[in-house]
Amino acid sequence: MGISQTQSAPQKISRDQREARFQQKGTIIWLTGLSGAGKTTVSIALENALFEQKALVTILDGDIVRSGLNQDLGFSAEDRKENIRRIGEVAKLLANQAFVVIVAFISPFREDRDWVRGSMDDGRFIEVFVDCPLEVCEERDTKGLYKKARKGEINDFTGISSPYEPPVLPEVHIKTSEHSVDDCVKQIIHFLDQAKVFKV
Ligand code: ADX
Repeated sequence: MGISQTQSAPQKISRDQREARFQQKGTIIWLTGLSGAGKTTVSIALENALFEQKALVTILDGDIVRSGLNQDLGFSAEDRKENIRRIGEVAKLLANQAFVVIVAFISPFREDRDWVRGSMDDGRFIEVFVDCPLEVCEERDTKGLYKKARKGEINDFTGISSPYEPPVLPEVHIKTSEHSVDDCVKQIIHFLDQAKVFKV
């Protein structure tokens, strides 16, 4: 006996169903800023804070994604654009599964960030400018890359030999040279709470 023709085909689980199940709206929290500004540190602290609040949350981080998925890409303007395009697509896929996705990439070009924003529904793309003066990032030089860039050993280094375009109207603007990581995270959480971001 074949399968009854009257039996309806299984339906995909919709975004609405997932959001009802997990009690949150899929949202991208996009951290942008210079290398050494503190994106990774803030993203991990933010993930912990949201996880504590029982959010279904994950991080996509530049250094990690570039060592795997995007290891074929360098730092030319075209490669950075492609880097952000792919990350934007991955972040959207996850947000459509109801995840809160924290993205931590330099993402130096306004146009590329705005492209991701433009493909999300209103209120589901939160841009966080992780602001730190170049001198401070260079002083920190946690990975020793600024020193190499100054010696000309690394080409197209953001802030030195490649531009960084700060956001014009980010939802949140944190200053990591003036405030502790905890305070920066509190500032982000405060925004998320008062704007009811990802609340169903
Ligand atoms: S992005 O510009 O394409 O968004 P992404 O965030 O993925 O950059 O990667 C930045 C990380 O790559 C930096 O934190 C640093 O560790 C490393 N890196 C290596 N070369 C460069 C470079 N030329 N410019 C900036 N970062 C670089």
